[in-house]
Amino acid sequence: MNKFFITTAIDYPNGSPHIGHAYEKVLADVIARYRRLRGDEVFFLTGVDQHGQKMQQTADQEGVNVATLAARNTRKFIALWEKLGVHYDGWAATTDELHKKCVQEILATLYDEGQLYKKAYKGFYSVRQEQYLTEKDRGEDGQFGEEWGEVVELEEENWYFRLSEHAEWLKSAVTSGALGILPEFRRAEVLNAIERASETDLCISRPKDRLHWGIELPFDTGFVTYVWFDALINYISFAGYRSDETSSLPDFDTLWPANAHVIGKDILVPAHAIYWPCMLRAMGFTDDQMPMLLVHGWWNIRKKNAGPEEDDSEEKMSKSLGNVVDPAELAERFGVDAVRYYLVRDIVTGKDSAFDLDRLISLFNSELANDLGNLLNRSINMTKRFVGGELAEPNYDDDACKDVRCSLKDANKAYLAAMDAFDLPGALKAINSHVVRCNQFIEKNPPFELRKDDSQADRVSAILYHLCESCLHLSILLSPFLPDASAKIRGQLRAEQSFTGHLEDLSWGLLKAGHQTGKAKPVFPRIVLEEDQT
Ligand code: MSP
Repeated sequence: MNKFFITTAIDYPNGSPHIGHAYEKVLADVIARYRRLRGDEVFFLTGVDQHGQKMQQTADQEGVNVATLAARNTRKFIALWEKLGVHYDGWAATTDELHKKCVQEILATLYDEGQLYKKAYKGFYSVRQEQYLTEKDRGEDGQFGEEWGEVVELEEENWYFRLSEHAEWLKSAVTSGALGILPEFRRAEVLNAIERASETDLCISRPKDRLHWGIELPFDTGFVTYVWFDALINYISFAGYRSDETSSLPDFDTLWPANAHVIGKDILVPAHAIYWPCMLRAMGFTDDQMPMLLVHGWWNIRKKNAGPEEDDSEEKMSKSLGNVVDPAELAERFGVDAVRYYLVRDIVTGKDSAFDLDRLISLFNSELANDLGNLLNRSINMTKRFVGGELAEPNYDDDACKDVRCSLKDANKAYLAAMDAFDLPGALKAINSHVVRCNQFIEKNPPFELRKDDSQADRVSAILYHLCESCLHLSILLSPFLPDASAKIRGQLRAEQSFTGHLEDLSWGLLKAGHQTGKAKPVFPRIVLEEDQT
């Protein structure tokens, strides 16, 4: 049995989760469920990044204690994952004592080994990105761009990690693929960034008089750990790194390396592709112990009144623009299935997309309510009405039936190839192609007409068998995406136990002669907006 260790970025709980956060977690959840269905032993880790200046600042602005703010907002993230059916095996909260202990042990070891040094530094600092800036970070106009937010001049002593010493190694690890990066086009971006990293070390501390909300350096108590150095370690601290035998954490040697760190494009460079591998290398991790980075794009917002062709029709989601989409509200209004489906269906993994409510509704209504919903309803209803809900071993075959079996085989193959390549929209399109084919099969071989002729009884029964068997396969393929809907479909087919194996064992003939199907009930009720009803 293969292991599959998947993690996501851990979110800053300095506000409420938005659809960007939700997309990443649903994406990882779908992959985790798929790998499980493949037969892998999966461990899915996600959580919250509770330290750092952003958190302290928000707490100061809101006039609350930062620990209270972290705890309060963390609950919102946990509640959303529960609502959206995001099922993780490990929860990484960086204020957890076990994480703090791990970070401090790593720091102490790096300190003993001479990987850390202290020096005074005067320079510009981006409050928003929580990092020092260099001359290279200035734009063509000589100014620090908007992306850095407020930039202040600071002079202070700090601790540094000898990042530059690992730059040559990192270049070879990225070039050779030891550090996996998907999609492939991101590799060039990383190689570019390494050039810059080779000239500077990483400041890994913040003086306590400026930032108290962090993990204290074990060898210099006037400082806390830089939030990224602390947060990145979650991927190993909650996977059992340096844990004692009595801990309830997983066995690190079995779990590591991560098969996928699912992260957004904004935190690839420098954090995940530069700092993290160099930190691991300094801790003694070898080339074959490097993780794989699966980098997704961003959900942006479609500007109001933007024409279809405009280049600048999208904008970033931001509190100040007041365009943040609340996933909990969406799920409340349109249902969890619609939200999960849309979030992974309408964005190519790795690319950006523009959130569009009309698309959410139209994709749900066309692919789920219309195509799949109709297929399910008709298949189960006709089976009930025409053969009393009892399936028979097909005694009849023809080209149309063969075509259905062939279509399912093709869909299955395309689905597996797409899922293995993290192409979730591709997998959903493969599912839909078979749904569409089955609906055409009904149109061309209408059981409601054929049943009027007694001599066609075997044919009708074979058609119904092909339809119900197809519905069962479709529910299995759909289960990583829409686990609840998939369970409902299987319930209506009374086929909950008809397949408990792994995907590679999935083959035609799950439903046996004499199988009794259940009652059809709409699984995907059409979304009708109130204004459309009038
Ligand atoms: N705390 C850091 C990550 C530390 S990982 C060791 C962080 N947090 S975040 O809350 O700002 O972002 C969490 C994740 O959400 C990141 O992967 C980020 O790319 C992703 N997204 C934030 N906004 C997004 C969109 N609008 N669209 C898609 N994902 C986006 O960064």
